[in-house]
Order: sequence, then C-alpha cells, then structure tokens
Amino acid sequence: MPDADPFAPDSRHHPPLPDSVRSTRRPVDEATSRRANGPDWDRYADEYQATHGAFLGDAGFVWGPEGLTEDDARALAPPGGLAGRDVLEVGSGAGQCSRWVATQGGRAVGLDLSFRQLQHAHRLDAETGVRVVSVLGTATALPFADASFDVVFSSFGALQFVHDIATAVAETARVLRPGGRFAFSITHPLRWAFPDDPGEEGLVASQSYWDRTPYVEVDDATGEVTYVEHHRTLGDWVGLLAGAGFALTTLLEPEWPEGHDRVWGGWSRTRGLVVPGTAVLGADLRP
Ligand SMILES: C[S@@+](CC[C@H](N)C(=O)[O-])C[C@H]1O[C@@H](n2cnc3c(N)ncnc32)[C@H](O)[C@@H]1O
Repeated sequence: MPDADPFAPDSRHHPPLPDSVRSTRRPVDEATSRRANGPDWDRYADEYQATHGAFLGDAGFVWGPEGLTEDDARALAPPGGLAGRDVLEVGSGAGQCSRWVATQGGRAVGLDLSFRQLQHAHRLDAETGVRVVSVLGTATALPFADASFDVVFSSFGALQFVHDIATAVAETARVLRPGGRFAFSITHPLRWAFPDDPGEEGLVASQSYWDRTPYVEVDDATGEVTYVEHHRTLGDWVGLLAGAGFALTTLLEPEWPEGHDRVWGGWSRTRGLVVPGTAVLGADLRP
C-alpha cells in the first residue's frame, strides 16, 4: 500500500479505510465526484443505517451529530408552518427528515444519488406507514419544474459532495417559489483545518482553512476515485447564496449538549466542547 498523504486525514466518513484505499487532496470535477459518491453511498448505506438509524429516528429530523432537531432549530421556518407546503429534501438518504416533514403536514419529496439509500427509504416507509416520494437524482440537475417547492432542505446531504456547487444552489433557487426557504446543514467549515479525528488529535489544526482542494479517496488497486468531499469557507457560502438570489437569515452552530456522549466519525464530546462541528444555514429566496 502506498504511503498516505501525510497532510490528509485518515477518512472523512467511514474509518478505517480498506487497505488498498488511500486518502489525499487533489482537484476532481463534478463527473468524478458523482461517479465516486453514488457507488460509495450504495456500498455504505447498510452500515450507515444500521449504525445511525436509531439516532436519526425513522421519522425524525436531526441536523447533525450534535442531535439538534428541527423542532428546536426551526430553520425551515416557512411562515405558517409546514402544513400543506411542498418540501424537497436533497441528499435525503433513507428519508428520515422528509418523513418528519410529512408528520407536520408537509408534502415531502426526497432526492438522493444512491439507489441503496432510497431502498432504505422504502423500507422505512413500509415500517412506519409514513410515506415520502423518493427520487433518484443529483443536486446539480433537479428533475423538477421551476417554482415547484416552498422549502428545499438538506441535512448533511448532497452539498458537500458536489463539485458544481454554484449549479446546485442555482438549481435550488430555480425549483423554489419566490420567497421560498432553503436550509441546510454541513460539516462546519472550520473543521476543514483539523484532522477528522474524534480524539485530542482532532483539535490540532493541520491544514489551511482556505485550501479548497477536495478530500479524495483513491483505490490504488483500480486507480478509481472512490469518495470525494468538497470544502467551502463560510464566506464562500455567503457569496454563493447571495449570488443565487437568497437572503441569508440563519447561521446555527449547535453546541455539544450536556450528557451527549455519542461518537460519530470525527464528531465527539472531546471536540464538540471546543470547536463547532456542524453549521446550519437558512436563507430566503428574494421574491
Ligand atoms: C450523510 S448522508 C445524509 C443523508 C440524510 N440526510 C441523513 O441525515 O441520514 C449524505 C447523502 O447525500 C447523498 N448524496 C451524495 N451526493 C449527492 C448528490 N450529488 N446529489 C444527491 N444526493 C447526494 C448520499 O447518497 C447520501 O445519502
């Protein structure tokens, strides 16, 4: 196995990496990101749902590993609530958040790149009796008509996995009705400067916050890129949203809750007490 890049963390989402896979930093385009991440999430979906499903709740809405719920955050916040609203979840996985939206009276549609994640959505639809429409697709080419939704949201969904982020944000603006709401959670951009380690090591800054070179996993046995994550600074996000016609109203940085000891990848109590792990942004499409 070749030496891993000494400046790259071990793995951004499912340590440990298989022997033939190494992590590195290098430019990758949208097609490569999508070709890697769809099959990656297909392979990982069963383990992801087995590991995190109970924490997420089959019809629950959490914004990230700190456990902040939408009930508390109110980041979707359409005036008058979700009842009767058309709501799109991008990067919906097994649709837990969309199912919660349905319990609030919203008409929820989930979209995801991974067929296996959507199979889990169908399983949970049947098990809970709360059904959401699931669509296979990508955030950068939403298969919906203009002005179809009142709310678009993503809980750690597609946004940090796409290269063409301006296209994804423009697509969101296109499918929203004027005045519509866009809310999403991502790994807090500050975390990019630190190794993705839940222990003390993860508190020592090791690379530039401003270096946007993607995190990439490569299988040296095949030469294939197997996983990609993209980084934008907080300033990048403000510019992206403003450029697509959004007015940013919300930036939540959930604190690590008292008595919460769950470790999820690089998220832990050790790190969570010192640096934020999740950012939740909310914006309204200017009428
Ligand atoms: C961390 S999971 C989050 C899923 C769900 N929101 C949850 O909380 O469990 C990220 C999801 O984004 C999906 N995804 C990755 N790239 C995507 C893209 N380009 N378009 C749509 N979904 C994508 C993955 O398939 C995966 O289901």
